[in-house]
Amino acid sequence: MGSTQDQVEVSYDVGNEFFRLWLDERMNYTSAVYLHPNETLEQAQLNKLRILSEYAHVQPGCSVIDIGCGWGANLEFMSLERKVGRAHGITLSTEQWTEITRRKIPNVTAEVRDYKEFKPAEKFDAATCICMMEHIASPEEARSGKHIDLYRDFFRRVHSWTKPGAYFGLQTILRNRMPRNKKDIEDIGHATYVIFPGGITERMEDIVIAVNPYWEVMEMKTRREDYGRTTGEWLKRLRDHKTEILAKWGQKVFDDYDRYLSTCVNAFDKHYQSLAQWSLRRID
Ligand SMILES: C[S@@+](CC[C@H](N)C(=O)[O-])C[C@H]1O[C@@H](n2cnc3c(N)ncnc32)[C@H](O)[C@@H]1O
Repeated sequence: MGSTQDQVEVSYDVGNEFFRLWLDERMNYTSAVYLHPNETLEQAQLNKLRILSEYAHVQPGCSVIDIGCGWGANLEFMSLERKVGRAHGITLSTEQWTEITRRKIPNVTAEVRDYKEFKPAEKFDAATCICMMEHIASPEEARSGKHIDLYRDFFRRVHSWTKPGAYFGLQTILRNRMPRNKKDIEDIGHATYVIFPGGITERMEDIVIAVNPYWEVMEMKTRREDYGRTTGEWLKRLRDHKTEILAKWGQKVFDDYDRYLSTCVNAFDKHYQSLAQWSLRRID
């Protein structure tokens, strides 16, 4: 069953003002894509959103479901830049839903809903999902071999929510290999069990197996260095706001997030983790 609502709230409900201090202005909590060496995090996040819209074949006037929509960065992009007719987001975090509602984005709706309970009234033209799959299976479920069935169930559901011919723009973190030293193993354990309880990153081959028989992989691109650079920028911004974070959220929150982001920088650098963007087409 992956992360429960209580566990997701541990990950995302520290406070909207906390995340606003160190994410980009739209509050993307996933990897950006750096197309040029001098780009800012803000520009690189827009590149990511554009690529995912292209992978999902998002067209003006169409309807899109964004699964695990965070604070609404992708919904906002699809509404304002891609001129969709309707973008609907689902998240398990009440704080994120509050932020999306506050933004009053045209043609955007959102709800606090587990994807396993989502039943849309109408089918969508396209789907996007940016780093939600990490919440689908728990470490225990992955160890006991249940994760592929859970991923396949997810792909089946998204297939059932979309119209024939739909494309699905997907971004996932990848688990490539385990560290061989104690400190790196403990740091990844801290990120897995303290920062994102109930979830685990996927292996590329598990996704390739699980999309069948619902989706065909049309394109896939890995972007390990981009996530390394994104988490490095988040870490710098977190440290730039250290005094404010200590005053408002305390030493433990600062230390936990400093350790988590340092772990990410190291994990992408050492190939423990990577990132993939996928363009999937419905099999009808
Ligand atoms: C790492 S965040 C990514 C947010 C956003 N896509 C972005 O790019 O910033 C993962 C998101 O998945 C959502 N999520 C986790 N488990 C979920 C579930 N079972 N059903 C729906 N959303 C879920 C969380 O609430 C959160 O919004």
